[in-house]
Amino acid sequence: MKIKSAEFVVSNTRVDKCPDSKLPEYAFIGRSNVGKSSLINMLTDRKTLAKTSAKPGKTQLINHFLINKDWHLVDLPGYGYAKVSKSTKRTFQKFITAYFDKRKQMICAFVLIDSRHEPQPIDMEFMQWLGDHQVPFCIIFTKADKLKPKMLEKNINNYQDKMLEIWEEMPEFFVSSATSKLGQDEILDYIDAINNELRSNNSAG
Ligand code: GTP
Ligand code: MG
Repeated sequence: MKIKSAEFVVSNTRVDKCPDSKLPEYAFIGRSNVGKSSLINMLTDRKTLAKTSAKPGKTQLINHFLINKDWHLVDLPGYGYAKVSKSTKRTFQKFITAYFDKRKQMICAFVLIDSRHEPQPIDMEFMQWLGDHQVPFCIIFTKADKLKPKMLEKNINNYQDKMLEIWEEMPEFFVSSATSKLGQDEILDYIDAINNELRSNNSAG
């Protein structure tokens, strides 16, 4: 998919104030500082569309961007600062869970995982939460440029093993780098394929 236009639409903390639109929407979520905003800028070839920061916690709002006047891309705040209790109750920031529970236009969530780190409980719990709430998601392993290829492969294999202890199948996954643009075509083509499928379903129905 070629990005012809990318426009900021609105920021807010309330899912009921998100754009009233039927356009399909793709959300980017992950721990604070994992590289969500950088990935959005890389995907759209816009250096400053989404605000990035070396300090975690930069994105505090649900940010909607309109891409090619055809679909919404959503930058969400990191969940790294949310307290996740060890008991049965998982408490991610309320408006993040409300967003995924209520936003009917949300087609696929991209859960970003820093490719350098061992699997973290908070990410595992978040994906479990998505699964329990029947939210479709993919994984994107970020910051691939920070690792040697062998180490990257080892970490991703290790992640898959860990996922397969819980899940029947490994979710669809991508590997990305905001600096080298690794993953740009694959992720955009994946979104494009879903959009095309939705369109043909709509015209058939
Ligand atoms: P919050 O909004 O605070 O939750 O963070 P975020 O997930 O949006 O992360 P952001 O894109 O702001 O990036 C955090 C830091 O990581 C910044 O210093 C980025 O420059 C850096 N970074 C992000 N992606 C990459 C990458 O692919 N490669 C490298 N080398 N650095 C990256
Ligand atoms: Mg951000």
